[in-house]
Amino acid sequence: MMTAEEEVGKMSNGVVVLGSANADLVVEVERRPGAGETLLGSDLRVHPGGKGANQAAAAARAGAETTFIGRVGDDDYGRLLRDALADAGVDVSALGIGDGPTGTALILLTPDGENSIVVSPGENREVCTAIVDAAAEAWRDASVLVASMEIPEETVAYALERAGRTGVRVVLNAAPARRLEHSILRWCDPLIVNEHEAGIVLGNESLAPEDLARGLREAGTRSVIITLGVAGALVADSDGLRSIPAHVVRAVDTTGAGDAFVGATACELANGASLTDAVRFATAMSAIAVQHAGAQSSYRDRAEVEELLTWD
Ligand code: RIB
Repeated sequence: MMTAEEEVGKMSNGVVVLGSANADLVVEVERRPGAGETLLGSDLRVHPGGKGANQAAAAARAGAETTFIGRVGDDDYGRLLRDALADAGVDVSALGIGDGPTGTALILLTPDGENSIVVSPGENREVCTAIVDAAAEAWRDASVLVASMEIPEETVAYALERAGRTGVRVVLNAAPARRLEHSILRWCDPLIVNEHEAGIVLGNESLAPEDLARGLREAGTRSVIITLGVAGALVADSDGLRSIPAHVVRAVDTTGAGDAFVGATACELANGASLTDAVRFATAMSAIAVQHAGAQSSYRDRAEVEELLTWD
């Protein structure tokens, strides 16, 4: 008879995503307002979002068996998020419903496709270690855990250690960024960050991307991916550093493109791809995402991503 730990370590190719779920309240504006200024914007649009839910939707659209562990409120936004995840093919049996409000993200979108985001966490604050343990079914089939930082850090640390000690590969997207301890970084394979986030995690925001990648490896990560927007991505692991180019596309909305990248990377790693091949696939997934409005609503299925890859 297997112990609980061996049971978890017996892997298929499931992706478990632990993280936030937010309703994205989006207004298009010509420019960001200054302090004390009032601007008129577009009509309000509401999209399913949240870094964790986005990453789960992306992994499932890319073809992974995906379970989302998170929380929403018993309200319309919570139902929107649950339906969107289920529609993407995500197992929502570990999506809890609490008494507080569903998380919301206030998003200003400018004509260049860039955004500014403020998150009101709501039920995301209640994603605790007991919820991680309660999702026993999800852990049984897990080969990759994805986590991000819009839920309590102690829950992330606990889940990473649980995963790492039982042979489940850890993908950590350190967003929103903060300084991270070795006890978290040691499990990351990979840590996925953009250039700005990499500087914050490392505590040195003046380094070039290559030095950030080297620094994050020296800080204890097993591998690192630094996303660089139109400049593609930088990968660092025990084989050294390599650069993966981006696809040249016209961005209309970059919201959730980073999450598409994270979810697609996790899917490919769960399927046994190398880190380099996973990043190539993820780069194509996010290139498609930036050409459509919203976060989860901008994700497309695997066939469309593979079609873009055949044009390389
Ligand atoms: O990464 C994009 C996401 O960040 C949005 O969907 C928003 O909800 C915030 O979590």
